[in-house]
Amino acid sequence: MNILITGASSGIGKQLALDYQKLGHKVWGQGRNQQRLQALTDQGITPLQVELSDLEQVRSSFASLPAMDLIVLCAGNCEYLDPQRFDAKLFERVWQSNVLTIANCLDALWENLKPGSQLALVGSLAHLLPFSQAGAYGSSKAAVHYLAQALGTDLGGKQVSVYCIQPGFVRTPLTDKNSFAMPSIISPEQASQSIIKGLTKGKTVINFPSLFSGFLHILSCLPHRWQQNICRRLAHKEGA
Ligand SMILES: NC(=O)c1ccc[n+]([C@@H]2O[C@H](COP(=O)([O-])OP(=O)(O)OC[C@H]3O[C@@H](n4cnc5c(N)ncnc54)[C@H](OP(=O)(O)O)[C@@H]3O)[C@@H](O)[C@H]2O)c1
Repeated sequence: MNILITGASSGIGKQLALDYQKLGHKVWGQGRNQQRLQALTDQGITPLQVELSDLEQVRSSFASLPAMDLIVLCAGNCEYLDPQRFDAKLFERVWQSNVLTIANCLDALWENLKPGSQLALVGSLAHLLPFSQAGAYGSSKAAVHYLAQALGTDLGGKQVSVYCIQPGFVRTPLTDKNSFAMPSIISPEQASQSIIKGLTKGKTVINFPSLFSGFLHILSCLPHRWQQNICRRLAHKEGA
């Protein structure tokens, strides 16, 4: 398969790119950091150095790509809001990294989505509950979930399969910044295997790890006030 992965210079995207390459696929890996991209090149992955928030750059960088069988839009970032002060700039940065970069990729890659191809957006289990300080990150991932579902409606008619990948905590540079406890955290290798397995099985929404995901899904069925109380208690326990 021809596979394009964004956010392939680090964390989950990097591991996925390496694993697909080892399985014998031709992989294009997008990132920004030149050094980290060089490490991918050394492993046989074709690097694409692109700032995904710049639509013109995305269009010109992706224009010459061959038809892809699988596109995984994994680039993203996480920042937490201070409950004492709403920071619109932080909110904008998070939405820019997690939602608008996806919009730019879709704009540039729309013609590339041929019948039989697969498109996967990376969201997060975080959008299931109203976690403290997660208003920017959680809402951006809720948007990714909705976008994947709506794209599935529109692209299904073109025989393009759309997936939403929703990880729990994965040990990467993104979570290395967190000082709070991260239950059921898994390695990028485990995350990558769950993604490959989910895509192979054709699961529209790929949630992992399964026990943690099941637990959050049960809590997400509780009345909203109960969910907020639980999340407030969790935040107090962590001293937020
Ligand atoms: N780690 C977790 O626990 C977890 C849980 C749920 C969901 N996720 C999601 O999984 C995805 C990958 O996360 P990760 O943990 O692997 O993070 P990571 O190690 O920090 O990697 C993020 C990747 O995204 C790229 N990137 C970010 N913003 C970009 C932009 N504006 N333009 C171009 N590239 C950009 C980075 O490129 P450079 O490094 O080259 O700049 C890097 O390759 C994210 O969407 C994240 O929200 C992660």
